[in-house]
Amino acid sequence: MSQLVPEIARLRLLLDAHRKAGKTIGLVPTMGALHAGHRRLMEVARPESDVVVTTIFVNPTQFDRTGDLEQYPKTLDQDLALCREVGSDLVFAPTAAEMYPQPQLAWVDVPELTTHLCGAGRPGHFRGVATVVTKLLLIAEPDRAYFGEKDAQQLAVIRRLVRDLNIPVTVVGVPTVREPDGLAISSRNRHLNAYERLQARALSQALFAARDAILAGERSVKKIHSAVAPFFDGVRLEYCSIVDPQTLTPVEHIESPVLIAGAIWLGTTRLIDNVTVSVGGSAGEAG
Ligand code: PAF
Repeated sequence: MSQLVPEIARLRLLLDAHRKAGKTIGLVPTMGALHAGHRRLMEVARPESDVVVTTIFVNPTQFDRTGDLEQYPKTLDQDLALCREVGSDLVFAPTAAEMYPQPQLAWVDVPELTTHLCGAGRPGHFRGVATVVTKLLLIAEPDRAYFGEKDAQQLAVIRRLVRDLNIPVTVVGVPTVREPDGLAISSRNRHLNAYERLQARALSQALFAARDAILAGERSVKKIHSAVAPFFDGVRLEYCSIVDPQTLTPVEHIESPVLIAGAIWLGTTRLIDNVTVSVGGSAGEAG
């Protein structure tokens, strides 16, 4: 049974009682439109936490394009059904007025990590994410908070703000869930028409090819970019970058683990994906 809680005060009351009873709390922040990737976050959180709280809040301060917020899928009934199925104890689904009762004047910003990759094309996006995640962490005070590795830059920003602001929470990154053809699962995939869905494979294919080239010994980022360029023929490439996984700054010669991240546009739909490569070790994926 998942209890729906729309108010901050009520959530705090319920969680205080659980904490007093010695229970651990796992937080799964989402914007709803839940899919297999979110299910995985809850599934990872479930055995590690006495109480799992899933948050469903389409955060207006992280939308940088007009129309994107209105277009964002809202599927609360289905989301609640999934939360029940996976065993999320509480679902915190506040209104925008509950989360932002007055114009927000205090912001959490991590500029050094947000000028590259997605940050370059989405001004203000990560400030909105960092601020709402901080609010959610301060409201729920969880022991652990779970985020998908598909959003690698978001995860890096959250890890950094938690460290810099001494927020007592363990941030858990959960590996990307993929369709059988490699496409990373995202709420935005539902906007793709049949042709775009086929084209969407280009992104993961390019990232996997770059990863394989590194694993085969290639160390020149320039050569890797040339090798993967053909994958992007016919799609609008926003960026494909090889960066340091912590600082997110571009790398020219690969000597240590790297994050390979990309964003493409198919019509009006923007898709992102990434993989990490542990040089000299095994390859993994990061969010
Ligand atoms: O990844 C998301 O769904 C959102 O950016 C998050 C972390 C829930 C903040 O609104």
